[in-house]
Amino acid sequence: MKKIPIGIIDKDENNIQKVVALLKNVQNIDSIKFSTNIRDIEMLLIKKKPILVLIGPTYKLDDFEEFLISQSQALNLVKIILLTSEVSTELLKRALKLNIHDVLEFPFDNKDFKESIERAEVVFEAESENVSNVTRFSKKIMFFSTKGGSGNTFIAINFALALRKRTKKEVILFDANYQLGDIALMLGLYPRNTIFDLMTVNKYDPETLNIFLTTHKSGIKVLPSPTDPSQCETIGSEVSIKVLEELSKVGDYIVIDAPFGFSDVVLSFLENIDHLFIVSTKDLPSIKNLKICLQVLDKLKFNKEKLTVILNRADSKVDIEIDEIEKTINRKIESKIPSDRIVPVSINKGTPAFISFPRSAVSNNIYKLTDILLSNKEYTTGLEKIIT
Ligand SMILES: Nc1ncnc2c1ncn2[C@@H]1O[C@H](COP(=O)(O)OP(=O)(O)OP(=O)(O)O)[C@@H](O)[C@H]1O
Ligand SMILES: [Mg+2]
Repeated sequence: MKKIPIGIIDKDENNIQKVVALLKNVQNIDSIKFSTNIRDIEMLLIKKKPILVLIGPTYKLDDFEEFLISQSQALNLVKIILLTSEVSTELLKRALKLNIHDVLEFPFDNKDFKESIERAEVVFEAESENVSNVTRFSKKIMFFSTKGGSGNTFIAINFALALRKRTKKEVILFDANYQLGDIALMLGLYPRNTIFDLMTVNKYDPETLNIFLTTHKSGIKVLPSPTDPSQCETIGSEVSIKVLEELSKVGDYIVIDAPFGFSDVVLSFLENIDHLFIVSTKDLPSIKNLKICLQVLDKLKFNKEKLTVILNRADSKVDIEIDEIEKTINRKIESKIPSDRIVPVSINKGTPAFISFPRSAVSNNIYKLTDILLSNKEYTTGLEKIIT
């Protein structure tokens, strides 16, 4: 990996020293240069040589905004991180519009800076190798349940972790439960941004998307649902598909945790996904809904080979046998996940079962779902036509 030259610009030399100290443990840094004069950013932009420049906190965006507008092309090579004493969504939006690489609160967290510099590395390498237009062959996978509380989110999260472990590829979890999504909570994450903020910025290039994705320590990335449920009303199917398409340019596998029910958003996802996992449980309403759901998919001509039925809590003793369910729905249940207290325990800890109980039957059976996905060689859109 190439080393990155760093520039630091601030009015106050003490702040510059603080930034230098914070950079001490960061790898891949080449030389560090600094200046107390904001006009030096103009020189750097005109020179157009790759460099990562940290500006602030005493210099504000207003001090160099105009110049950025006139030199916006140069910002593909000169990456700017704005340091500020107060990060706000407003400032973030303004910075993104100006093609600023990142905005960090000063003094910044080592982890945040590392993430930011890693993204810069990727951009610098892509620029130097001119590979920014390489098309990815990503797969979009959706988890959908036949009743609320079936275990859809828990299975989608652990499946994403299993897929990451097995393939080492870029896996993105898309929390499409806009009203009451809980992926971030179940992963113990406190995201800075959600799909709502991304939608407001309305910029979907890979670099911007990466800012809006939160990385979990396992390496999977998450696009969280809005923190305020009232924001979900503005996120319709059009923007949902746009986000899905754009995510598939930066990820190899996009795992969608769909909300319960055939909403417009879910129907539009069905037209675009490569595989559908339907999660059901052994209670009567859930099985009735599973039957109806399969009938709907049949009407929609959803390709059966791209469909897998999962029975969660399959060992519960509830006087309904699995073969009875299979007869009712007229197809085999390909995956069965047992009921286990490790599931609520791991959810409450914010550490998924696949990480905290990797050898459990629950984790093993979820891992086997990756066999089903990866053995499905042909990936075209599951839905051929919608019948209105
Ligand atoms: N196999 C299992 N064993 C034990 N408990 C389980 C199992 N699967 C799910 N649960 C419990 O069921 C609850 C609901 O799980 P989860 O939130 O994943 O379901 P969901 O279908 O996403 O629900 P929602 O409709 O609210 O989005 C969780 O609290 C979890 O502890
Ligand atoms: Mg859920």
